[in-house]
Amino acid sequence: MSQIDDVRSKTDIVEVVSTSGVNLRKAGRSFVGFCPFHPNSRTPAFTVYPDSQSFYCFGCHASGTAFDYVMRKLGLDFKDALEYLAARAGIRLEPKGDQQRQEDARRTRLLEINAAAAKYFNYVLLSLSRGEPGRKYVAKRELSPETVESFQIGYSLDEWTHLFAYLTARKGYTPEDVVAAGLVIDHETRGPYDRFRGRLIFPIRDAKGQVVGFGGRALGDGQPKYLNTPETLLFKKGELLYGLDLAHDAIRNEDRTVVVEGYVDVITAHQHGFRNVVAPLGTAITRGHVALLKRLSHNVYMALDADAAGQKATLKGLSALREGAESGGDGHLVATAQGVVRLESDVSLRIITMPEGRDPDEVIKATPDLWRQLVADAVPVMEFYIGAYTAGLNLGNPQDQRAALDKLLPLLAELDGSQQRVYVARIEQVIGIKAELILDLLRGKRWEAGGGRQGAGGRRQGGGGRGQEAGGRRQGAGGGGQQPPPDDVPHPADVARPPTPGPRPPVSRGVEDYLLSQALRHSLVIPAAVEALLEQSLEKFPTVREMLGGGLEDLLEDPANQQIWATFTALPIEGRPVGEPALAAWASWLEEPLRDRFLAILASDRRYPEDFRYRQVAEDYARNLRIQQAIRLHHMLLERIIASIESDPEPNLSAEQRQITALHQFISAAKTPHRTSAFLDLRDSLGKM
Ligand code: CTP
Ligand code: MN
Repeated sequence: MSQIDDVRSKTDIVEVVSTSGVNLRKAGRSFVGFCPFHPNSRTPAFTVYPDSQSFYCFGCHASGTAFDYVMRKLGLDFKDALEYLAARAGIRLEPKGDQQRQEDARRTRLLEINAAAAKYFNYVLLSLSRGEPGRKYVAKRELSPETVESFQIGYSLDEWTHLFAYLTARKGYTPEDVVAAGLVIDHETRGPYDRFRGRLIFPIRDAKGQVVGFGGRALGDGQPKYLNTPETLLFKKGELLYGLDLAHDAIRNEDRTVVVEGYVDVITAHQHGFRNVVAPLGTAITRGHVALLKRLSHNVYMALDADAAGQKATLKGLSALREGAESGGDGHLVATAQGVVRLESDVSLRIITMPEGRDPDEVIKATPDLWRQLVADAVPVMEFYIGAYTAGLNLGNPQDQRAALDKLLPLLAELDGSQQRVYVARIEQVIGIKAELILDLLRGKRWEAGGGRQGAGGRRQGGGGRGQEAGGRRQGAGGGGQQPPPDDVPHPADVARPPTPGPRPPVSRGVEDYLLSQALRHSLVIPAAVEALLEQSLEKFPTVREMLGGGLEDLLEDPANQQIWATFTALPIEGRPVGEPALAAWASWLEEPLRDRFLAILASDRRYPEDFRYRQVAEDYARNLRIQQAIRLHHMLLERIIASIESDPEPNLSAEQRQITALHQFISAAKTPHRTSAFLDLRDSLGKM
């Protein structure tokens, strides 16, 4: 048995969740409580299933195993989660290889040295008479004693070997390790000397609160203003965010992170009660940062100077964020309750524009309410770019219009279909270039970006808006002049390397799979038809809409199906593959398990070949899935109510009762009225599935 399996088998998710501070109540075979991953205090939507050792939140759809839970709740990576759960279960993880062991030992020593140094700097600041310049500076920056304590702020004496002597002679660490920790520089001729001298010291801690490095600020105009620990075994700037150890909980509770630029900005924010604030260490935001933050909240706000330099830094940070959010390469693979991998890559980014020449430190100190307002006024990143790229241009001048658009096109290309439509319209409004022209250019960009021909055949779908009928007919006709040649897909590189499906896993053909397949084959018609149908049925049931949603994606319960659909709809409309060959080629962009699943679904749904009835059939399937969903949820809520009555004779149930009643009415309405004959047919065919 692998170590991971061992830990898994000795871990009880119910216990892990309970001891993490979530109150769980037994409800039938499962447990329910308030979800720790999204703000909620009314309906306990967070469900833990001891049988499958998994959790699922009906509110925010967070799901997974005990590992996922710990990673997300405590902000750990997989390795740390494994260690955490192993320790809980009383399992000693097997000893590692020699080299690994040596590195671990060294890492531990460097951590100890850093901890000792942080304590030393703090002591010098607070207690030595020669720490006076530091104390003066702390007072000048208006840092409170509590702040000095929680951030463990310190001061380094303006001497050459005071810390070195302390760490070696007094604490017994080797000069070599002290140098490796980055605290001491070993000069070839003059020997070792302290890196930080006469500076205010900010210990830099990782997410777990371990000191991994230091930032030192000159007290006056000394250069450089800030001096940081160099990259060491422990100190990796691209993976650290200052203040994250203290910001964790607030980020999770508020469901957003505010990223500022400086140490003091973070500290002042926390001192004034804004505790979801962190900063990179003088660098742009990297993928590593994004990965850290995504575990806590997918909403990232960045506060940036209004000045040009600030915007430059912003833009640098933003491109990294965008890369981080790209599917594929850097996407974060998450195992879900069903054991399927899901690509988690969405980050929603907003920009807080600071008043000219002022940073958060100054604003918060002077007027905390202004800071609140600035955060509330943050704009989506695309909106920010539109502003940044049109600033100072004369948009009456076609050259300026085109210049702005050229910068915005690559960004537009990254948006998903619905966002793209919104921003094409917005850009038309701001820049004054017609939406159709923007879409045409965008299509051109897509083709370039795909590395392929700028194709004359590029105009595949009529401008996005021109109706579902056209799409449906084209696909229904199966071939014909308008149909793109089979290799006419946005990623020609793939066509040169046709996908080799390999052995196909047997797929149990379900209603959901069929619906998904039809939605992919007829991507203009089916999703819209299903959405119209669902919306119509939900018209009188707002409560049910809240619970179940009104889109095709809301009918997909299987995580693999959800992921396939999300990946597909993330493509801009004109970039979506049409026809089976193009769909099959596109599949090779999917991650391994998804790809096989997708190809299997595609291959096995020829039951209704290009039939004119496909739309009706899909609608019936959608209706059927929706009823099943509603019944399941109804059942679950009933179970919960029963369980809560058992544990509390007078439970306060009104919200749940309202939901149950709404569901009940919804189900009866959906089941009874005038069924179409196709729906009756469908019931027969369902029986045989
Ligand atoms: N920084 C750095 N090295 C420098 C200057 C800046 O690493 N020589 C980093 C630090 O992390 C600093 C951040 O960039 O906190 C922002 O720098 P800056 O805006 O110059 O400083 P402030 O944070 O405003 O610092 P202060 O308020 O102390 O002047
Ligand atoms: Mn400042």
